[in-house]
Amino acid sequence: MSNKGKFYITTPIYYPSDKLHIGHAYCTVATDVMARYKRLTGYDVMFLTGTDEHGQKIEDKAKEAGVTPKQYVDNIVEGPRGVLDLWKLMNISNDRFIRTTDDYHQAAVQKIFKQLYEQGDIYKGTYKGKYCKPCESFWTESQLVDGKCPDCGREVQDAEEEAYFFRLSKYADRIQDLLENTDFLEPRSRVNEMINNFIKPGLEDLCVSRTSFTWGVPVDFDPGHVVYVWIDALTNYITALGYDNDRYNDYDKFWPADVHFVGKEIVRFHSIIWPAILMALNLPLPKKVFGHGWLLLDGGKMSKSKGNVVDPYLLSERYGVDALRFFLLRTFPFGSDGNFSNEALIGTINTDLANDLGNLLSRTVSMVGKYFPGGTLPAEQTADALDDDLIALASGLRDRYEAAMERFAFQDALSEVFKLVSRANKYIDETAPWVLARDEANKPRLARVMYNLLESLRISAVLLTPFMPDTAAEILRQIGACPCCSDWESAGKWGSLSATVTVSRGDNLFPRIDVEKELAALEALEAQARKAALPAVEVEPFAQEQVDFDTFCKSDFRAVKVKACENVKKSTKLLKFTLDDGSGTDRQILSGIAMYYKPEELVGKTLVAIINLPPRKMMGQESCGMLISAVHTEHGEEKLHLLMVDDAIPAGAKLC
Ligand code: MSP
Repeated sequence: MSNKGKFYITTPIYYPSDKLHIGHAYCTVATDVMARYKRLTGYDVMFLTGTDEHGQKIEDKAKEAGVTPKQYVDNIVEGPRGVLDLWKLMNISNDRFIRTTDDYHQAAVQKIFKQLYEQGDIYKGTYKGKYCKPCESFWTESQLVDGKCPDCGREVQDAEEEAYFFRLSKYADRIQDLLENTDFLEPRSRVNEMINNFIKPGLEDLCVSRTSFTWGVPVDFDPGHVVYVWIDALTNYITALGYDNDRYNDYDKFWPADVHFVGKEIVRFHSIIWPAILMALNLPLPKKVFGHGWLLLDGGKMSKSKGNVVDPYLLSERYGVDALRFFLLRTFPFGSDGNFSNEALIGTINTDLANDLGNLLSRTVSMVGKYFPGGTLPAEQTADALDDDLIALASGLRDRYEAAMERFAFQDALSEVFKLVSRANKYIDETAPWVLARDEANKPRLARVMYNLLESLRISAVLLTPFMPDTAAEILRQIGACPCCSDWESAGKWGSLSATVTVSRGDNLFPRIDVEKELAALEALEAQARKAALPAVEVEPFAQEQVDFDTFCKSDFRAVKVKACENVKKSTKLLKFTLDDGSGTDRQILSGIAMYYKPEELVGKTLVAIINLPPRKMMGQESCGMLISAVHTEHGEEKLHLLMVDDAIPAGAKLC
């Protein structure tokens, strides 16, 4: 049991309506880093994530896929490259995973709904308003932006139905006080958004049930109604601890949550609706809600429907999970939006990880190995005033890092670590170990220089552990750090590493990437993935107009044998066929299929031609008829197959 107490942190639970993308991974990685950091500093951590599996969108998607909603979500959550696989890939250390379709959660939601109804916080009324189907959100007229959904900008529909309402308005004053006069919601800019957009216009009661779809937790005392999203989704934070159920038993230990990390578009639900539900249930409020920004692609939000999602599998296969985790939190502040681009990712890997960190490690470890037998430093070491600056920077690093992490300022925490990494690289140039190595008398000084570099690496690695767990462990292994000088306490103490440490060389952590080559390779891979995402096979729409039988019979289709075939000079498309059509006279047909066939492949084949089309000239040559082919589209590319028939069919046989 740790001595600092408990820390309960959550991510939003994800909609498994489609496979998750790197934008979803952004929030989960940030939460994981915070959870690992808190564990490192000695907290007893509960890190919860999960999936929010009900609602119309999932019902519709399942129908489209011809499966039940449960089968649909099971595949996206537990199937190959599903949510669970993705979190494993990203090295996410969640302690618990909740699915809102879990029995214990559904039963608890029913109890909570009933309690709120019985005590008058939920009542039955008629819902009239605007509904955004993709967001599954109801809006009042005044909340719409240009008549469209304020979250996604899409069209909304009129909706009216019997529904249950939660008395949100009753809690308006308490919520306003909470937002304005406490640090409940951060960053502060989000408080202003909430006050101006939702509190000031007046909080209206919230529709919390639906009758228009069935894929939800049933309202057990009123058949036909299902609990509509927020009471089902938000309560996951307490049911996953065992609230109103026997599955878990940590509610008393972990509630209230220390922080809910949420994306900016769901801050409203977490900072207004969630505290109001908890007030109605007479439960303590979470200590903090932090609304982070979005990871943008081409300046816009990533979404499957826009087709601009980035595949975390592809990126982590190429650069490693740690590089990806690092990039997500290194390049822009957690509270703001930031742009994803392949250039930025590769640039960050090359600059911070290959040039600065990777280089510092490989130079240091190889110098120790080269200058000292067995890679072990001697006990006799000589300090110098030149060391003071580096030691001062390293000694104060843990505190500066901690201050940033406590503000969820991941980017600042990493900047602090990388200031030390850069300073240590500069220290190599200042001390010029290769010059010291020339004279045996300098060995004690050289040993101290190496020790100082190893210490700088050790402190950096411990503090990088939450961000890049595997990389940090590998650095600590290579520099010979034992577990007792790889912990939080030792990160604050310069000189924790044994003076006579032994290093062991390992692989280069982050090989430098050739930017141009890599960008071209990524582009090709992404184009391939885009193509693969297109429908496998598409056929031409069927003709609506009917032809009468007599008209059809006028078309004279014949089996023809290819006697010769060649490319038409100066044409990239045309092939010239000399055909036996059974008439005793050769027939010439030109066909624009040169990109699909080589002439020699076709000689001797039996094809089908329509022979009573009026002759026409192509590239100065006459074509008497047309060869019949089958055409379709495959992954966005047009495919063509000449119709070839059994060679036993004689030339001239009529097809009817
Ligand atoms: N199911 C709700 C949350 C219920 S919590 C009680 C939901 N799910 S979601 O799958 O749509 O989004 C989950 C989280 O992923 C949100 O916090 C959202 O902001 C985040 N992100 C989705 N795309 C994102 C980016 N491109 N960038 C950063 N975060 C993004 O909302």
